[in-house]
Amino acid sequence: MRTPIIAGNWKMNMTPKEATGLIEALKPLVKDTNTTVVVCVPAIDIPAAKQALRGSRIKLGAQNVHFAESGAYTGELSAAMLKEAGVEYVIIGHSERRQYFGETDETVNKRTRAAVAAGLTPIVCVGELKEQREAGYTDALVTYQTLIALTGLTPTEVRKVVIAYEPVWAIGTGLTATDEQANETIGVIRKAIAARYGKGVANRVRIQYGGSMKGSNVKGLMAQPEIDGGLIGGASLKADEFAKVVNFDK
Ligand code: PGA
Repeated sequence: MRTPIIAGNWKMNMTPKEATGLIEALKPLVKDTNTTVVVCVPAIDIPAAKQALRGSRIKLGAQNVHFAESGAYTGELSAAMLKEAGVEYVIIGHSERRQYFGETDETVNKRTRAAVAAGLTPIVCVGELKEQREAGYTDALVTYQTLIALTGLTPTEVRKVVIAYEPVWAIGTGLTATDEQANETIGVIRKAIAARYGKGVANRVRIQYGGSMKGSNVKGLMAQPEIDGGLIGGASLKADEFAKVVNFDK
């Protein structure tokens, strides 16, 4: 019903030349999948990645977008710039952006709206810190983060958004949420979307899990009914490992 979506988040890795090499190595390994495959590359790699992706069904993604159309925002990129460069997906509100670059739920919402208005598909990241899970706040927090991020979008727009549930304690740590934990929290997110936008919309929204997902744990996570894919950091930097994740159903 929902097409799975596996997205690589390269973070601040890969020069343009390295990006070309990784994509060329990846292309033959994932050519037979029906899963949506995305590589979210550093902005400077976009032209090289676009070129390297020619003739493949792998989609191009960016890692952030500014909310203004243009103007005095030194160092930022607009949705129109990304779109014209061939980008289709954009990660918004990654926990590293929230933690190190002052992103808030409000700016995540503004960026999400700008991305959608320009015809980009946002991959909106939500997720709790370790202390928040231990204190029992996970459900309330991911509900709040999700609903704020989507505020101002029409139900038709919400349907196309991708959400990535990434427990912050599982990112880059080797710790993964259990299959059941990830499924349960993603179920909470889907219920929140259903309550606000209706079941029809909630059943269409693709919700990924992210946090140390890799070849060895992808099958168990993807077997869960609520989990529609993954946002993959470390394991997306090697073609064979990322291909194992993409080909979870083979
Ligand atoms: P990780 O990163 O797979 O390296 O844990 C995931 C992410 O931050 O998107």
